[in-house]
Amino acid sequence: MKAKIIGVGSCVPDKIVTNDDVAKIVETNDEWIRTRTGIQARRVSDASTATSDLAIVAAEKALKASGLKAADLDLIIVGTTSPDYLFPSVGCLLQNKLGAMRAAAFDVSAACSGFNYALTVASNFINNGAYRNILVVGADTLTKYLDWSDRGTCILFGDGAGAVVLTATDSGAGILASWLKAEGDLGHHLIMRGAGSRDPELKGKHGRFMTMDGKDVFKFAVRVLEESIRAVLDKTGLKVEDINLLIPHQANVRIIDHVSKKMGLPNDKVYVNLQKYGNTSAASIPLALDEALADGKIKNGDMIVLSGFGAGLTCGANLIKWEDSNA
Ligand code: UT7
Repeated sequence: MKAKIIGVGSCVPDKIVTNDDVAKIVETNDEWIRTRTGIQARRVSDASTATSDLAIVAAEKALKASGLKAADLDLIIVGTTSPDYLFPSVGCLLQNKLGAMRAAAFDVSAACSGFNYALTVASNFINNGAYRNILVVGADTLTKYLDWSDRGTCILFGDGAGAVVLTATDSGAGILASWLKAEGDLGHHLIMRGAGSRDPELKGKHGRFMTMDGKDVFKFAVRVLEESIRAVLDKTGLKVEDINLLIPHQANVRIIDHVSKKMGLPNDKVYVNLQKYGNTSAASIPLALDEALADGKIKNGDMIVLSGFGAGLTCGANLIKWEDSNA
């Protein structure tokens, strides 16, 4: 059996923060942010909105689109690195809020690669027959962990959530190949201290922030984005020209352009929506998938590659033969 996506949903906070708004807080400007990243605006959640509040909306939309009921779910997996609490997991919060009382639930911590990691785990549970219906969510509210005086990070991120419902199929469509990787030796290039057990003295206003070596992450990103795409193609015997749509992690348009140009993927086969949302971490790929579907960019039989990278450092990709839910 393969895992087929039968419902997609997403959610972003209402508040839009433009580059000009950010330029009022930190020494930067719209032109620099647009040309160096492609980002024009991002969504920022208010103080009372936690990751599960965005995730539940995305999950309910995905469930509705799938035609399944919460009670049909066997498992919920959430990719997130900004959970509401250290425990219980966002997965368990969703299980309760949805009323998915039959479902097991847990979170996967792979930062911006969280959705591809969670999707791969879910796909394998379906492949081996353990579960039939699985909700996979990517959700983060990283704007709560930004140092708004660090222009190297605060310009990049936004909040959001995206979700898919998977079910087992023997139609030959669905997730055909998955590939994950971690390079923990590079982990120090993108790190959020002060929220874990290592250095609790950093907790609070002046410590619990992400820090990033932008250039090192950029170099990693362009290398592994290509590596991950080629890895899922190799597993299936497909070629770059067989890809109908690449949905890459929405971090920086220069990363996406560099890789697609190098691999010979034309612009119309690469989905980009980071200009509106910035980098929404684990939410970026399912949010882009939801918009690509709404934009009519995906049709029955298309080969779709989801590929991303993030803290860890991690990366991963999934290759999907798309099948409309009514097919
Ligand atoms: O999900 C994974 C998350 N992380 C990423 O994807 C990050 C990957 N890296 C990047 O996207 C880029 O490295 C950044 C966008 C973070 C930075 O772009 P860059 O082209 O690597 O810029 P830079 O750090 O080399 O800085 C170039 C110049 C510097 O000035 P000087 O030394 O040349 O005078 C910076 O001080 O631009 C300056 N600068 C800025 N200026 C205006 C750096 N950040 C800003 C800013 N506004 N926000």
